[in-house]
Amino acid sequence: MPDITLTTLQACKARGEKISMLTSYDATFAAAACQAGIEMLLVGDSLGMVMQGQDSTLPVTIEDMAYHTACVKRGNKGAMIVSDLPFMGTATLEEIYRQSAMLMRAGAHMVKLEGGAWLCEAVTGLAQRGIPACIHLGLTPQSVHVFGGYKVQGRDAEAAERLKADAQALEQAGAAMLLLECVPSTLAAEVTAAASVPVIGIGAGPSTDGQVLVLHDMLGLSLTGFTPKFVHNFMQDAGSIGEAMAAYHNAVKDQRFPAPEHEFNT
Ligand code: KIV
Repeated sequence: MPDITLTTLQACKARGEKISMLTSYDATFAAAACQAGIEMLLVGDSLGMVMQGQDSTLPVTIEDMAYHTACVKRGNKGAMIVSDLPFMGTATLEEIYRQSAMLMRAGAHMVKLEGGAWLCEAVTGLAQRGIPACIHLGLTPQSVHVFGGYKVQGRDAEAAERLKADAQALEQAGAAMLLLECVPSTLAAEVTAAASVPVIGIGAGPSTDGQVLVLHDMLGLSLTGFTPKFVHNFMQDAGSIGEAMAAYHNAVKDQRFPAPEHEFNT
């Protein structure tokens, strides 16, 4: 497949074609995901939980992120690689620039930061320095202790308005992409319709411009035995991991995933 760029993804949004994204942490699975047609590989700090066995993403370091980004880069065959700034990577503007540079040097094409409109200055500064930024809104797992657990966000009117205002401000500041996690489908639909940049969802319903899942979740693998409501196990009807990845990609493209049972309501 030809290399996926921001232009490719913008064109997908413009013609209403859904974007498929999957987390990836190593070269072999990255190559398999590309073979299956996946367009974006997210080197998520979820690697703390699925690769390292931690009970949250908080212990993950920038060195961990850079290492796994470099592994994914070696297996990548044309997908866009997005890498997470880990917990406290957004502590200061200087840290954001330093850590983003490490991820880009390791092979990322875009960095992802968890936060809100308070990241506007960083987003502008990154774009000026050649680094596209995706901002993760809604349930941002690095703030699990502020939220008091992994809870659906944006359910009441005030929180929903705040999230919409954050999305608008971040786009104006130069964000290249937004990612919404665990928000009601109606709110995600409003944010997506108002945004001119692609919006990727996880637990955000069918209206976002694309979908992302954690690799291990969609393969039906869980250390804890807990499966989030928004996950579908694509391995259960597949004969191989490659087939499961292709089934996920096709279900996103055909808009069969997410289905109503994966959605959250207000
Ligand atoms: O770290 C990660 O895998 C993520 C996804 C859950 C979106 O941020």
